[in-house]
Amino acid sequence: MTTATKITYTSATGDLDDFHRRFDEALARVRAAAGATYPNLIGGEPVAGAEAPLDDRSPIDTSFLLGRFAAAGPAEVDLAVRQAKDAQRDWARRAWQERVGILRRAAELIQQRKYDLAALMSLEVGKSRLEAMGDAEESADLIEYYCGQVEETDGFVRPMGRITPVERNTDVLRPYGVFVCIAPFNFPLALSTGMSSAALMAGNAVVYKPSEEAPWTGLRLAEIYRDAGLPADLFNFLAGRRETIGDALWQHPGVDGVVFTGSKAVGLRIHAGISARWIKPCLMELGGKNAAVVTASADLDAAAEGVMRSAFSLQNQKCSATSRVYVDRRVAAPFVERLVEKTRAIRMGDPTERDVFFGPVINGRAVERFDRAVAQARGEGRVILGGERLRGGVFDRGHFVAPTIASLPLTSSLFREELFVPVLAVGEVDGLDQAIVESNAAEYGLTAGIFSSDPDEVARFFDEIEAGVCYANKRSGATTGAWPGAQAFCGWKGSGSTGKGGCGPYYVAQFLREQSRTVIETR
Ligand code: UN1
Repeated sequence: MTTATKITYTSATGDLDDFHRRFDEALARVRAAAGATYPNLIGGEPVAGAEAPLDDRSPIDTSFLLGRFAAAGPAEVDLAVRQAKDAQRDWARRAWQERVGILRRAAELIQQRKYDLAALMSLEVGKSRLEAMGDAEESADLIEYYCGQVEETDGFVRPMGRITPVERNTDVLRPYGVFVCIAPFNFPLALSTGMSSAALMAGNAVVYKPSEEAPWTGLRLAEIYRDAGLPADLFNFLAGRRETIGDALWQHPGVDGVVFTGSKAVGLRIHAGISARWIKPCLMELGGKNAAVVTASADLDAAAEGVMRSAFSLQNQKCSATSRVYVDRRVAAPFVERLVEKTRAIRMGDPTERDVFFGPVINGRAVERFDRAVAQARGEGRVILGGERLRGGVFDRGHFVAPTIASLPLTSSLFREELFVPVLAVGEVDGLDQAIVESNAAEYGLTAGIFSSDPDEVARFFDEIEAGVCYANKRSGATTGAWPGAQAFCGWKGSGSTGKGGCGPYYVAQFLREQSRTVIETR
């Protein structure tokens, strides 16, 4: 008898041999299906794109064509927004129980298809097996958790007080209309599902653009919604290039709101531009430059393990990744020694293979960014480990670079800029005060971690750190691994726009606007 597995970004329980066997079978199915051509889906209908198609290639082996996707242009955006708008009115009128029922079916389908989804994500964006399965599991849990928010609030309807005896007052939250949902490559299913399912269950329609690097996973999500019974016009799938439709999407006058996960630069541009006629909701999660602080009282083995895992899982391409460490100089040498030892032991290679932890970065631009960061680190400080592109065998076929650790002066801009490549900046500090000041000096404020055995230090860190997702002594990942219903993923400062996070208890309400209803009883 095998026990069912449950895999998150920081834990794996159940029968792992069974997991790997099923993953292998799914991988074979996905490989066999590769190379097909796909249209956009507008109102459920296949629509060709006006632009040159997008080739979806694996970062593990760039000669491997996963699929060719019709690339939408502004005309397809216009069609999708108009159809979504018409369909949304009926969707909003339905009972919330019906919407929640459809979305719960989507969560069940994700569970049923999770091996194929994970295998696809591993091939499409270079995730390790466990990271890929975490992404699929999180997607199902996100829907479940968000459905709970609609149920707990009776569909966001609440009776209110009365100021005269003859009035009956009700507060309701109602959908905005059409949300554009723009997703990144790094959690191609979980972030797409989290953003879009919340918009949908709140009664909105969605026009969805997956990452150019992960359209196939995005298309799988469209199929899941369709198979769950979602009316076709409510989720429109537009593969397309950022430069062609990125702006056309949010600038369309029929769009009522945007939900976006991606870079701070793009997010700021959308936020500044979308409210030309009136202010529209703009829900954004915009990256991070997440610090881990290692104090003199820390368990150095736990700190090194937690930093290694958060810095190098998914090749540092998580908004939550640890990309800088501030270590008390009294323990810097033994901490760095352990960190280097653990990083050296990382198994690198084709991440679809069992037990490979570290795969490729997403594309050639990321490799160039890595090269530039390494050159800067060499100029300003010392590269302690890595620093090179990986060569030979599988490495020559994809975008592989080494996990890299650099010791740098605190003035280096490598402590401030998000790189999204596996370069970890390590700086020495005189104590917790300086570590907090340095951590807070970045414009980002997403995640942060501390390693300390002193509860007062931990309490001070939580009180003073400018970040929305904070961890203490997390060996399984210093700053990563937030899960629906356990850790709200709220970006402060340059990391977000609303002060309320995905995975958290206030998420779904953000896709709704308040309406107060007063009825005077006439008798
Ligand atoms: C992201 O990278 O944009 O907490 C979000 C974590 C993941 C982060 C996903 N849930 O590590």
